[in-house]
Amino acid sequence: MVSGGGGKWLCIILVGLLSLLTTEGYDVGLTFLDSAVAKGAVCLDGSAPAYHIDKGFGAGIDNWLVFFEGGGWCNNVTNCLARRDTRLGSSKEMLKVETFSGMFHNKPKYNPDFYDWNRIKVRYCDGSSFTGDVEAVDPKTNLPFRGARIFRAVIDDLLAKGMKNAKNAMLAGCSAGGLTSILQCDNFRSLLPASTKVKCLSDAGFFINAKTVIGTSHIEGFYADVVKTHGSAKVLSPECVAKLGPGLCFFPQNMVQYIKTPIFLINAAYDSWQVKNILAPGVADRKGTWRECKLDITKCSSAQLNILQGYRLEFLKALTGFGNSPSRGMFINSCYSHCQTGIQETWLRDDSPLLGNTTIAKAVGDWYYERNAFKKIDCPYPCDKTCHNRVFD
Ligand SMILES: *[C@@H]1O[C@H](CO)[C@@H](O)[C@H](O)[C@H]1NC(C)=O
Ligand SMILES: *[C@@H]1O[C@H](CO)[C@@H](O)[C@H](O)[C@H]1NC(C)=O
Repeated sequence: MVSGGGGKWLCIILVGLLSLLTTEGYDVGLTFLDSAVAKGAVCLDGSAPAYHIDKGFGAGIDNWLVFFEGGGWCNNVTNCLARRDTRLGSSKEMLKVETFSGMFHNKPKYNPDFYDWNRIKVRYCDGSSFTGDVEAVDPKTNLPFRGARIFRAVIDDLLAKGMKNAKNAMLAGCSAGGLTSILQCDNFRSLLPASTKVKCLSDAGFFINAKTVIGTSHIEGFYADVVKTHGSAKVLSPECVAKLGPGLCFFPQNMVQYIKTPIFLINAAYDSWQVKNILAPGVADRKGTWRECKLDITKCSSAQLNILQGYRLEFLKALTGFGNSPSRGMFINSCYSHCQTGIQETWLRDDSPLLGNTTIAKAVGDWYYERNAFKKIDCPYPCDKTCHNRVFD
């Protein structure tokens, strides 16, 4: 009886999984931007940058989604050398196909507002959120710091491929790429024709300048090193840099008020990357007290949950400068997650996260097309039963 029922369920689950695999995403190949090499727009190992593109069609033929991949940062020569020969430092090491689902899907059922757009996912290989631009290459290390040149070369290439006629365009990205879409939002706007409707979307890119669990400063120095190593100052907000200097202007909270282009933020208030790397990084948790909690939020002690609640409040405070302009939107949920647009389960599915009874796909589509403003902050953890909280191994 029991095993028979189990077999039936296993069968149903397998069929279900198979249909998920076949319908919830499809593979798109990698395009190398060889022409960028002559412009010095190269990955950390000197190889050409690369992206995945699925062309627009029908009514979406003149609409462009340009999405930048994330993957942390390298803050100094040692760490950039360690990254150089990985998929985050070299297009030779990148996977040759990428699954397009969620916001990249080409079927209206999975992606009602952007399915027919030109959809581009740019691979990350510079370690600076596409902000670096150092002319000189040290012959001792041979490490180029050229993220901003990659950004520019990709946009120029897409303009030549038809984006110069864009009716709609959106700069997007997740994690370090979500930071790109904040830091480079107005630069992107300036590279497109004035007649194009341009907006920016940041998924999990609002990294805050918070202290660690032991009260030490960690991310602030790390970001200052990133900006210094990569020579990022030139692409950062000039208003912010004049006031605070370049290092602090890598933090969205210090420059978001200067962005002129419409922008939307998707972020978990308990962003799992931020908890693991800003609040409780290894250097601030030598004894590993936070290990279990960082892997699975349900394993946090009540004392740790209190600290996480404090982090959420700090996160919300950092959003103050975002302001109330109707051109701006936000979806700040109370999940333990990081990046919610590029996968079907969190973008749009029967069980995907909701805020104000609205999926991320609908909130973003309503905001982009100005059907409805969306600016909502979730109640504190664990009130939201729609989360897909991350559990790490
Ligand atoms: C590079 O950065 C790492 C991480 O912040 C640090 O541990 C290391 O000491 C730095 N190395 C140098 C050479 O500055
Ligand atoms: C939430 O949205 C669904 C589908 O749009 C609707 O059927 C349902 O009544 C809504 N629930 C609430 C509480 O508004």
